Amino acid sequence: MIPLLLDCDPGIDDAVALGYLLCQEDVDVVGIAASGGNVPTAQTVLNALGWLDLAERGDVPVHPGAELPLAQSGASSDTLMAPTLYADDTHGRTGAGHATLPTPSTAPSHTSAAEAWVNAARAHPGELVGVVTGPCTNLALALEQEPGLPQLIKRIFIMGGAFNYRGNTKPTTEWNIDHDPEAAAKVFAGFAAAENLPVVGPIEATESIVITPDRLARILAGASHPGWQSWLEHLAEALRFYFEFHAADGHGYLAQVHDPYVLAAALQWARNPTGKDGIPWAETATVAVDVELQGSLTRGETVADWLGRWGAAPNAELIRRIQAEDFLHHLETTLTRGPTY
Ligand code: BDR
Ligand code: CA
Repeated sequence: MIPLLLDCDPGIDDAVALGYLLCQEDVDVVGIAASGGNVPTAQTVLNALGWLDLAERGDVPVHPGAELPLAQSGASSDTLMAPTLYADDTHGRTGAGHATLPTPSTAPSHTSAAEAWVNAARAHPGELVGVVTGPCTNLALALEQEPGLPQLIKRIFIMGGAFNYRGNTKPTTEWNIDHDPEAAAKVFAGFAAAENLPVVGPIEATESIVITPDRLARILAGASHPGWQSWLEHLAEALRFYFEFHAADGHGYLAQVHDPYVLAAALQWARNPTGKDGIPWAETATVAVDVELQGSLTRGETVADWLGRWGAAPNAELIRRIQAEDFLHHLETTLTRGPTY
């Protein structure tokens, strides 16, 4: 079994990732860390619990993350105090689009998300796969508690960033990094010492993962697992909102789902870490990356040092291109089949 901790801010594409995760038979989901991001932390906790409840997976602990990004919480020495942004327009007021999730029958864990990272890494030294599909706040706080985290974790996969690319938040920033730039910078710096470089999936790559209404209809029509149908119907209601948002944003009636690819790549890599093909479904580049923390126009922008001007060793394996059709076929097949329990 692959021990995996998912740190997410559900979020509609986070929910797609969570659904994909619940369909894996060889993964031990040691916990879900909920971060603030698309909606406030209290709501991402409820959403994670709600999606798990629908899948009858109340056994998976949900760990509440920090309420605020580092700069706003005083946990960072940085004095910039931009107001915290939420993405109601993208994910709906509750973060589940048009879906109404059940009131969770399970309570959140008493262990915080940062502690959960530390506990899971210590419980599975060298084995834990970590996936972040929200801001890096919890992981940065975990690094403060346990600076040896990069040596304990098998590999970290992060959805975030926009490198030499237009942003989806400010002109040059991507949502997850923009929400907590200090946290992302701490993680990039801290994990530079990891044996396996963090894998970073930025929007210029993940935007190619597009679910269309046709694909969704095929998934719904093909699903036969008795308990899974209701989960998928809720997902369809969430995605309907995501389609509407993307249409209003000029992309057409479809949904760019950023998060599930990064999770799936993490799992496929963990199954075959020494394979010659590297990161599944992707072309990558190893490069030194960092986050702009000061710029009045560019705070939160991710920067890759393509020409080695900093003289720094690479600290990330950056996804450059995804074989989107191949991955989407895999995603569709997996979500249609449903969980194996
Ligand atoms: C990221 O931002 C969030 O809105 C999505 O869930 C995804 O993790 C894409 O920029
Ligand atoms: Ca997310």
